[in-house]
Amino acid sequence: MAMNNKLVIDNVTKMYGYGLLGLKKFKALDSVSMDIDLGEPKIVVIAGETGSGKTTLLRIIMGVVKPEYGKVLYKGYNIHKLRGSAVKWYRREVQPLFQDPYETFNPLRRIDSYFYDTVYNILEIKSRDEVERRIDEALKFVGLSLDRVAGKYPHEFSGGELQRISIARALLTHPKILLADEPVSMLDATLRASILNLLKDLKEKLNMVVIYVTHDLATAYYIGDYISILYRGTLVEYGPITKVYQEPKHPYTNALLESILEPDPTLREKYSVIRPSAIEIKEFLLPGCRYANRCPYAKDICWYKLPPFIEVNGTYVRCWKYLDYKEK
Ligand SMILES: Nc1ncnc2c1ncn2[C@@H]1O[C@H](COP(=O)(O)OP(=O)(O)OP(=O)(O)O)[C@@H](O)[C@H]1O
Ligand SMILES: [Mg+2]
Repeated sequence: MAMNNKLVIDNVTKMYGYGLLGLKKFKALDSVSMDIDLGEPKIVVIAGETGSGKTTLLRIIMGVVKPEYGKVLYKGYNIHKLRGSAVKWYRREVQPLFQDPYETFNPLRRIDSYFYDTVYNILEIKSRDEVERRIDEALKFVGLSLDRVAGKYPHEFSGGELQRISIARALLTHPKILLADEPVSMLDATLRASILNLLKDLKEKLNMVVIYVTHDLATAYYIGDYISILYRGTLVEYGPITKVYQEPKHPYTNALLESILEPDPTLREKYSVIRPSAIEIKEFLLPGCRYANRCPYAKDICWYKLPPFIEVNGTYVRCWKYLDYKEK
């Protein structure tokens, strides 16, 4: 198999049940495709309102959720088909970072025990000196040290320190990709900035790709190099973040950005992102563009056929409005 240095998300569809017995199905993700080049360090933001499929996509990349259709290729390997030692390899290469550091660590367990476990079991390093060196190295990347954390329990650290510690744990395996699901949403504003800066710094220093999930577009802009926008399980736009923010192509991206940048309350209302769930499920079930319902440009085709990804000036957009660009 050809080795390549990419994470390829290829036409991924994930179905979940809904309704009383969960017998009816909807596509929590529908034909999501995205190529991430791993050669350069970068932060790729996955943004979208609640329920748009962000966490589902991260879990699929992590390998813990399997899509019904489509595949995820890491360096050319289908990650849902890895077996034996290849599974361990992938777990070292791709590390998750969770939202709430207090939930990551059991309050009755010493923090350093998590580090020893990872080094012994996943890295299979046996020499005590080497184990401690690896743990100390990871903690130093986040401004801590093994001496600082040795023998301590989670409640002895602040939320910000604990999130640093969970980052350090993720770094133990020298991962290529960090999957971060809203990692600062539980922290105070002041701490948030320090964690965001830390991630930006680590990306460069360790030559990593961080896939960063958020519904906060201001944070996204601060931290991101690329952004992909999900709407009701479809990826509507993907590209370099400055391009997407300066000239949003998809009508949904446009509405989203106007709603954060535009102080006019009537516009806010118009573009409000909080909707009742009955409408939400109806939109999930649309065969065409999920945004057709609200889109000022919707044509007949938008209701029944999902647009293809169309490259427009270096960004990818799924919108029938841009079909002409494809034909040029
Ligand atoms: N295990 C599951 N079984 C059934 N439905 C699920 C399951 N996991 C997620 N869903 C549904 O799939 C959709 C996408 O969920 P997901 O958690 O990926 O959204 P999200 O973008 O991460 O939202 P949030 O911003 O609230 O974290 C939602 O409608 C959710 O209710
Ligand atoms: Mg989520």
